[in-house]
Amino acid sequence: MSRGLFITFEGPDGSGKTTQIDRLEAFIINKGYDAVLTREPGGTKIGEKIREIILDKNNTEMEYMTEALLYAAARAQHVSQVIKPALEEGKMVICDRFMDSSIAYQGFGRGLGDSVRVINEYAVNGCFPDITFLLKLDPEIGKIRIKVEDRDRLELEKLEYHKVVFRAYEELEKLYPERIIGIDANRSIDEISNEIQFHIEGLMDKKNIDLLGE
Ligand code: ADP
Ligand code: TYD
Repeated sequence: MSRGLFITFEGPDGSGKTTQIDRLEAFIINKGYDAVLTREPGGTKIGEKIREIILDKNNTEMEYMTEALLYAAARAQHVSQVIKPALEEGKMVICDRFMDSSIAYQGFGRGLGDSVRVINEYAVNGCFPDITFLLKLDPEIGKIRIKVEDRDRLELEKLEYHKVVFRAYEELEKLYPERIIGIDANRSIDEISNEIQFHIEGLMDKKNIDLLGE
């Protein structure tokens, strides 16, 4: 049995990741594959506890490096407990945010630089996404889409912070053009999901061709 695809979604808060992930899950199941939906920070019992600590609006004293290490710790648990085993069973794993979020939000946004990539190389232990959809939406529009009472500690950061994060995502898109697919998220839900499905079909075809060539 071949390894499943590891698909991640990135982008500003409110850019439509959850909406598109639900659409993609239905598409994948319809094609006869098993899909595992998961999210970061979280995805495991330990990870969800870490998520509560990170996103708690009262934890205003949290050091940036503490924040980066907590995200990476949750990710290490998530990779070994959920993502790797599912991929080995041939399942398609769809993850709401992954290592690129840490590089954008902590590496660039918090100014921690390359240390964040290094920490995360340890955390993911060789398990990198096959494809990443970057939902590109002006953070200002994303913010408007999220109700004020639903905003967590990161979402409450100033708009300037979210603009830096968005520029970081654009840098990552340029750095990893083979893996990161930029998607214009300022369109209808249908238009966006059609484009995502087109890329997934392309990748599935490519994977089959690769397998036949082995
Ligand atoms: P995220 O998971 O990236 O925070 P969501 O999928 O939860 O984003 O979407 C945030 C809000 O925006 C939701 O109310 C959702 O219904 C709405 N939304 C999602 N996609 C679109 C779209 N293409 N156009 C307009 N509104 C959208
Ligand atoms: P989440 O609530 O899942 O985001 P969304 O509102 O897009 O569904 O994510 C919580 C916040 O954590 C979000 O603002 C982005 C941030 N984050 C990081 O700063 N670093 C990371 O490594 C991850 C995974 C998320």
